[in-house]
Amino acid sequence: MPEASVSMDKIVSLAKRRGFIFQSSEVYGGQGGAWDYGPLGVELKNNLKRAWWRANVLQRPDMVGLDAAILMHPRTWEASGHVGHFTDPMIDCRSCKHRFRADHLVSGVAPTAKGGTVRFSVDRGTEAQVLEGLRAAAKKAGSSIDEAEVRVAALHGPDAHLVGPSTNAPCPTCGEVALTEPRMFNLMFKTFVGPVEEAAAQVYLRPETAQGIFVNFANVVTSMRRKLPFGIAQIGKAFRNEITPGNFTFRSREFEQMEIEFFCKPGTDDEWHQRWMADRMAWYTNLGIDPSRLRLRPHDPDELAHYAKGTSDIEYFFPMGWSELEGVANRTDYDLKQHIEFSGQSLTYFDDETSEHIVPYVIEPSAGADRAALAFLLDAYHEEEVPAGEGKTETRVVLKFHPDVAPVKVAVLPLSRNEKLTPTAQAVYASLLKGLRDCVVQYDDSQSIGRRYRRQDEIGTPYCVTVDFETVESDQAVTLRDRDSMTQERVAIADLVPALRQKLGWDG
Ligand code: GAP
Repeated sequence: MPEASVSMDKIVSLAKRRGFIFQSSEVYGGQGGAWDYGPLGVELKNNLKRAWWRANVLQRPDMVGLDAAILMHPRTWEASGHVGHFTDPMIDCRSCKHRFRADHLVSGVAPTAKGGTVRFSVDRGTEAQVLEGLRAAAKKAGSSIDEAEVRVAALHGPDAHLVGPSTNAPCPTCGEVALTEPRMFNLMFKTFVGPVEEAAAQVYLRPETAQGIFVNFANVVTSMRRKLPFGIAQIGKAFRNEITPGNFTFRSREFEQMEIEFFCKPGTDDEWHQRWMADRMAWYTNLGIDPSRLRLRPHDPDELAHYAKGTSDIEYFFPMGWSELEGVANRTDYDLKQHIEFSGQSLTYFDDETSEHIVPYVIEPSAGADRAALAFLLDAYHEEEVPAGEGKTETRVVLKFHPDVAPVKVAVLPLSRNEKLTPTAQAVYASLLKGLRDCVVQYDDSQSIGRRYRRQDEIGTPYCVTVDFETVESDQAVTLRDRDSMTQERVAIADLVPALRQKLGWDG
């Protein structure tokens, strides 16, 4: 089992304190399952989207991009299966009014250390959460639990099961036996087009970006003269009325997807599936994700979506355990065939080698931009003991982002706010804004230099440039500090832009 880099509570607090992520509509008490990206969060997420677009569209001759509308013809969602199948089973507690996803509840009877038993229900089923819930249930019952026995009993024993229609399990929140039967609930948000709120005017906010790609397949083939194999990539918002949003941004009601539909000839699909799984794993590790916290997990047959021949999830070891970051699915020819049937249009591909019209197979790497941002934020977090003078140490919090991911690339920090230093520091700042123009460069001259270094470490800025008295009085050079090693080197102002471009990996 890998080690989580940091608890979710710590990252939620850092994200708010440092301007990464805020609760949506906080001044009104918050809007559940929706999040606002602050000044640093928007840079972090944009950097990830840019890195994804660069790797998957700009640097691949076999890919093109697309930006389809969020509102689509409602028949789209009948064809895709979302109207019929995009449902979760929902359970309410009649006593405390809490709502749960039935497939996230585990209930059972577990032995306690004192030789008795404790009846429990726990929301969401990662092993760590089940154990945590059990400890709480046992404590309520005035006992402790035998971890080893409980692990077996809770997760694999005959009494452990998902809450089903016939159970009389206690509510995980209040402990009352007052859970309703599960009811199926469609996750698509509905709205109306035009002034009259009638059934004929009802449309959906798209629950995935994928269908915007499928319905444009023929448009792209024709307008771009594309030959198989080729892919269409899209980044955009998706909406799901999740019953239990949670784990910070991990499960939200409004989120962004980065999706690829890669069209290939039937028979070549398995090989492309393998290639895409490897490519997508490498994308995360090349951008600095710790490989020990990343894994590829093939779906069990009973987990597979109705459209998929095979799917593997790229999972990250989040603080709540292994959880999905991205799915890489072989969707076969399911979607194009469905749209052919429902629209009556020809969405086939003419293969001039065989002179046949075929329906391509599709490999779909489908990632979440918000889950990626959360994983990169968690993975970058480090606490280090550093010297604090007089033989003492202090804890330095540092986000060790890959330079491409870091929201702020460079900070210009004059040694102090001094009229001798300010003009040169401002000139250095202006030259960096011009020379590194596609990224954020900050200028900060408030508080002590030590505190400013700590602040930049805590937001993951790879390089700090310090202007001091030597700069203006003698050498026209600045100190360049490396975030991770904390080493400092002297660089002539005239060489600063090329030196930083090289260190950031932009040139050479
Ligand atoms: N087109 C396939 C599809 O949408 P999915 O597994 O439902 O598949 C793909 O979603 C990715 O979208 C997930 O791996 C995850 O990163 C992201 N995602 C899905 N639901 C989400 C939610 N409620 N909140 C945040 N991200 C979500």
